[in-house]
Amino acid sequence: MPKIQIMPSILAADFGQLAAGCKRAEDAGADQIHVDVMDGVFVPNISFGPEAVKISTATVSIPQNVHLMITKPQNYIETFVQAGADTIQIHIESKCDPEETLKQIRSLGKRAAITLNPETPVESIFECVENGWVDEVLVMSVHPGFGGQKYIAAAEEKIKIIRKMAPEIDIAIDGGIDNQTIIPAAAAGANLFVAGSYLFKQSDMAEAINGLREAAEAHFCKAVNA
Ligand code: DX5
Ligand code: ZN
Repeated sequence: MPKIQIMPSILAADFGQLAAGCKRAEDAGADQIHVDVMDGVFVPNISFGPEAVKISTATVSIPQNVHLMITKPQNYIETFVQAGADTIQIHIESKCDPEETLKQIRSLGKRAAITLNPETPVESIFECVENGWVDEVLVMSVHPGFGGQKYIAAAEEKIKIIRKMAPEIDIAIDGGIDNQTIIPAAAAGANLFVAGSYLFKQSDMAEAINGLREAAEAHFCKAVNA
C-alpha cells in the first residue's frame, strides 16, 4: 500500500528565514519538503530557484520534493539534482518532451514525477503512467502560481482514475489541502499531500501534521473501493 506522506510547501515559509522554515517542518514530522519553483512565465509568479533547494538540503535530512513550474524544465534537471532534489515534478503542460525529461531525471538516480493542472485532462498523463516513466503523479488542486488558494474538488476524479490504473504508484495532491480537504483527497486515492499555508500558519505544526496524517490514513482509497 502506498505510504501516506505529508509534504509542507516552503512557499508558505518566511523567505528571509527559509532554513528555519525547513527545520521547523522537519522537526514537526514532515516526510518531505516541497519546493515550489516558479519562473514567472509558466505561472504568473516568481518564487525561488535551485538556491532554495540547496538551503533546504543543507538544513534537513528528509527528501526534497521539487515542483518545477517552469517553461523548459529539461534545461534545469541537472541543476536541481546538484542542488539536492530527490524527486523532480515536471508539468505535462511545459515545453518539453515528457519521456525524454522523465528519463533524464531517472538517469541521474532521482525519482521522476509528472504533474497536471486543473484544466488539463487526465488522459494527457496516461502514457507516462502506462509506460512506467514516473514514480509519482502530482495532481494540482489549484491553478499553480500561488499558495493559499481554494481547493478544486475536481482533482479527486482524476486521482480516482490514476489510482485504479496504478494501485501502487505515489499520487500527490497540491493546493488548498487542510484538515477538511485532505479527507476526500485521500478517499480518492492520493497518498502524498502538499500543504503550505495550512501548516505554516499553525502554532503547533507537529500537531497539524499528525492530524493530516491520521485523517489521510483513515480515509485512504475509500472512494476508490466504494
Ligand atoms: C501552488 C503550489 C503549491 C502551494 C500550495 O502553485 O504548487 O505547492 O504552495 O499552497 P497551499 O497549501 O497554501 O495551497
Ligand atoms: Zn507545489
